[in-house]
Amino acid sequence: MLICIPEVLSKAEVADFRRIMDAAEWEDGRSTAGSQSAMVKRNEQLPPNGEVARHLGGRIVKALLANPLFVSAAIPLHIFPPLFNRYGEGHHFGIHVDNAVRGDPATGMRIRTDLSVTLFLAEPDAYDGGELVAEDYYGSQEVKLAAGDLVLYPASSLHMVTPVTRGTRVASFFWLQSMVRSPQGRSLIYDLDTAIQGLVTELGRDHAEVVRLTGIYHNLIRTWAEI
Ligand code: NI
Repeated sequence: MLICIPEVLSKAEVADFRRIMDAAEWEDGRSTAGSQSAMVKRNEQLPPNGEVARHLGGRIVKALLANPLFVSAAIPLHIFPPLFNRYGEGHHFGIHVDNAVRGDPATGMRIRTDLSVTLFLAEPDAYDGGELVAEDYYGSQEVKLAAGDLVLYPASSLHMVTPVTRGTRVASFFWLQSMVRSPQGRSLIYDLDTAIQGLVTELGRDHAEVVRLTGIYHNLIRTWAEI
């Protein structure tokens, strides 16, 4: 399941990110690719352990944890320090699957990559091409979102970024380990939470059946959570 989450960063925050990123030094994106994906990857990245990536990544993680829709959809346990890439004309990333486990040498963090995240940092009209294409249960989905919006998709899915033919695509990308490993379990919990939020609006949080459903929500997490 692909889930799009709007306005994780405000337009003012995106502009501040871009000001800082545009002044930074960039390197070849193959530095963080596995051996298969290095063969199909052509883009640039901010150095993963550089001061700029760490500072901006920290701001993204803070925004994510304050975003109820993100927390509901991802049920995050560990969020990998966000990385940043840009695709100029002719850059692309061919079809690949992300590595199953990611280690961060700077912190010693090691996570199982359950979900991949792309946070768009350029407006869609600033570049042509550069769509994220991810395989879903329902076939291939093409994603190109407004600056400040993000998409969550299963890290297990084949995906690619189509060639940029005009302008520059700028994004942050990272992975997370969810407390709920199974995609079906996460999807069920997310759907239940969405339905409960709808009922809260209709009936109020203290309606007896809303309280009962909220209990079921927590007990499903209690059943499946690995922490
Ligand atoms: Ni990837």
